[in-house]
Amino acid sequence: MLVKFAVIAGSASKDLGKRIARRLKAPYVEAKTRVFPDGESKITFGHISIISQVRKVSSKIYAIIPYMGYARQDRQFLSGEIVTMSMVAKMIQTAGAKKIIVVDIHSKIALNHFKIPKENVSAIPELAKYFKKMKLKNVLVVSPDMGGSLRAKKFASLLNTDFVTLKKSRNRKTGKVRVKSSNVDVYGKDLIIVDDIISTGGSIIKATQFLKRQKCKRVFVACTHGLFVEDAEKKIKKSGVSRIISTNTIPRNTSKVDVSGVITESIR
Ligand code: R5P
Repeated sequence: MLVKFAVIAGSASKDLGKRIARRLKAPYVEAKTRVFPDGESKITFGHISIISQVRKVSSKIYAIIPYMGYARQDRQFLSGEIVTMSMVAKMIQTAGAKKIIVVDIHSKIALNHFKIPKENVSAIPELAKYFKKMKLKNVLVVSPDMGGSLRAKKFASLLNTDFVTLKKSRNRKTGKVRVKSSNVDVYGKDLIIVDDIISTGGSIIKATQFLKRQKCKRVFVACTHGLFVEDAEKKIKKSGVSRIISTNTIPRNTSKVDVSGVITESIR
């Protein structure tokens, strides 16, 4: 059978891969991952295996990387650091990807390491749709740091409300996060903190603690990529967050928002 596309999903994106295949009316190729005792893994996709194998049968290979890891290592912050994002981009290109599609990549600088056509699709409209249905009143959107300000602005405009930006700093050596005191009027308001990634939860916890001290009402969290390293989700809830909503770029309990639609739009 001659098909325009086949969707081949890596082990972390099986459900998302199936959803994209359904939307494209394309065959879904099952992935088999075998992990050896030494930790090495071997990935086989039916008759075809990973991008370099797909290249043997197709010249139009889109690498869809819903959560682009290493995007936070997009530049040298401290002397001697390796810009790992650049290495990762080279590997993906060398393997034969002809276009890369990512969702809410951490920074545009990270995407610039790719020399092939690239598209960064946004999950923000989908996350905003979810929160709109909750019909929260007297709600304000919060960016935990300057880097997320535009994201929060967009989210707030979709909810027809305002946004504020906190002043976060991170110790580059220890990774510890601090939210500096700033003048934000959140008294008695429901808040939605919008972030791209939740990893250890440190940023959200510090932001929530600060906002609670300012006597806000409830704190909700919307994020694209819910990594939740170790017991991050539990710790965030303990800090006073009422609800965390993430997308299915990484399948988690919190993945209530589906990004297969926005990804599929960028494939057509
Ligand atoms: C940082 O600039 C990112 O936008 C996230 O705020 C950060 O990566 C979250 O990491 P963590 O949950 O470990 O604080």
